[in-house]
Amino acid sequence: MSLAPFPAARMRRLRRTRALREMVQEQGLSARDLIWPVFIRDGQNMKEPIPSLPGVNRLSLDQLLPAAEKAFSHGIPAICLFPYTDQNLRTETCEEAWNPDNLTNRAIRALKAALPDLMVMTDIALDPYNANGHDGFVVNGEIVNDATVEALVKMGLAQAEAGADILGPSDMMDGRIGALRVALEASEHRDVAILSYAAKFASAFYGPFRDAVGASGRLVGDKATYQINPANREEALACVARDLAEGADMVMVKPGMPYLDICRAVKDEFRRPTFAYQVSGEYAMLMAAVQNGWLDQDKIMLESLMAFKRAGCDGVLSYFAPQAAGALKG
Ligand code: PBG
Repeated sequence: MSLAPFPAARMRRLRRTRALREMVQEQGLSARDLIWPVFIRDGQNMKEPIPSLPGVNRLSLDQLLPAAEKAFSHGIPAICLFPYTDQNLRTETCEEAWNPDNLTNRAIRALKAALPDLMVMTDIALDPYNANGHDGFVVNGEIVNDATVEALVKMGLAQAEAGADILGPSDMMDGRIGALRVALEASEHRDVAILSYAAKFASAFYGPFRDAVGASGRLVGDKATYQINPANREEALACVARDLAEGADMVMVKPGMPYLDICRAVKDEFRRPTFAYQVSGEYAMLMAAVQNGWLDQDKIMLESLMAFKRAGCDGVLSYFAPQAAGALKG
């Protein structure tokens, strides 16, 4: 890069008017970049607020459909479903996770019937179904890998069968991407995409999500034996390399804002579709400041989402997606 010395170079020349600023703007943000994570629950006419996620509700399926339609009409291409499973369906053996008629699979069918062009993404992990809140089976206090992978494959196949377009394994077991890809190839579902939560860190920013899916009170211990140590960049890149080699079509970095360095490294190193998840704790933190009148909601939302584009992401999962799409339209 070469820059003339002052005064030949005055950076402010190109910041003088809005038109000039927009003409030299490097990044753009559009509704097309957004995936909307939605919490669903059983029942009728339910729109249940989640106190630690201001403005986010658990929706019953009759409420989900109009909300999804509105998001789609604002240009959001995909929504990602997270179930609040009935507390008495949570067991140590997690069989509800691959029940073809569980809440998520019913929601997928309803969405694909009503809005075939809206992409439906799912979450693959046992935590919304597990009596102890972990993403894998717990045997003698340990989260066991290989038996969990077998269950995750059953879960993913049931979601593909229901019509999911994109499967999102968020469990961090070893070998799950390969096992899932082989199973999808062997079934009728070879064109179902996998967006792997490849670089998923053991983060304290997931707290409000665990409230939302009703797993907070159940979780025994933490997830440090399967999620990545937040201190480890090289390990995160190794996980991305491994998941791409096993057949992931897209990869994700999670959490988002505190891990933008990882986003940039993943994009530069692999040049594949790269997503970030602006997780529940990030949303909660911004909204808490908004509610105190300390930050401007529209501005902070769009600035925080643009940061992901600048860091090299192709798209972002964000609880702000519907409001952001509305603001970008207006
Ligand atoms: C669980 C899962 C989590 C999130 C998405 N899938 C939480 C966790 O790993 O405990 C977090 C998303 C968020 O915080 O918004 N498999």
